[in-house]
Amino acid sequence: MASLELIDVRKTYGSGHTEVVALDHATLTVGDDEIVALVGPSGSGKTTLLSIAGGLLSPTSGQVRVGGEDITRYTNRQRTRFRRRRVGFVFQQVNLVPFLTARENLLVMPRIAGRRDRAVLERADRLLAELGLTEQAHQLPATLSGGERQRVAIGRALMNEPALILVDEPTSALDTRLGEQVMQLIVDEVTSRHTAAVIVTHDPRMARFAHRRVEIVDGHLHAPAPA
Ligand SMILES: Nc1ncnc2c1ncn2[C@@H]1O[C@H](COP(=O)(O)OP(=O)(O)O)[C@@H](O)[C@H]1O
Ligand SMILES: [Mg+2]
Repeated sequence: MASLELIDVRKTYGSGHTEVVALDHATLTVGDDEIVALVGPSGSGKTTLLSIAGGLLSPTSGQVRVGGEDITRYTNRQRTRFRRRRVGFVFQQVNLVPFLTARENLLVMPRIAGRRDRAVLERADRLLAELGLTEQAHQLPATLSGGERQRVAIGRALMNEPALILVDEPTSALDTRLGEQVMQLIVDEVTSRHTAAVIVTHDPRMARFAHRRVEIVDGHLHAPAPA
């Protein structure tokens, strides 16, 4: 079953003569086990598409389904609940809780959901190890490098075992040799738990882990011509 379906999605910001059409006639299906690389110039609508797919924004028109769940007409409150349950976001701007350690940042979402069991702690420690962060587990974000902070954000996104992983230009996570390992971790998550992922990146080292490439120009999606 498809994990993400965008059907004829349109998104406009503002109104009247200041209206901006950020997405138009956007139709995209990302299956379970599938990683799509979304590429396009700045301002083409990439972040808007991820925000709609992950329930941060509602579309102006069209339909959005994640794991069979139709989120198109969800209220703000329903979308918040949906995101916590099903979506792992990694944004370019990493928003870690500054007064919590790396490990505690991974445990924030499970704790909000009332989970304090051993399995949650084990998952956090396993993800930290796979992300090369075991030694940094008890450090505060301010004492971590940019790449380390971004890896913590990836760990946090994977903690709740999302149905959909959305990654928006995580450049500094790949500054290090660990970059490949981080992508491999996402690949393993996607294949072992039948997750769908959309990754916005211009970095070929990252894009080559994707199964398919989709281009976006001026809010319109295009499948690239076969090579
Ligand atoms: N909150 C907003 N209000 C008004 N216009 C916006 C807003 N967010 C994005 N836009 C506009 O929508 C278009 C697509 O933006 P965005 O999705 O951020 O593109 P990308 O991520 O590809 O750079 C751009 O023209 C941008 O200026
Ligand atoms: Mg963007």
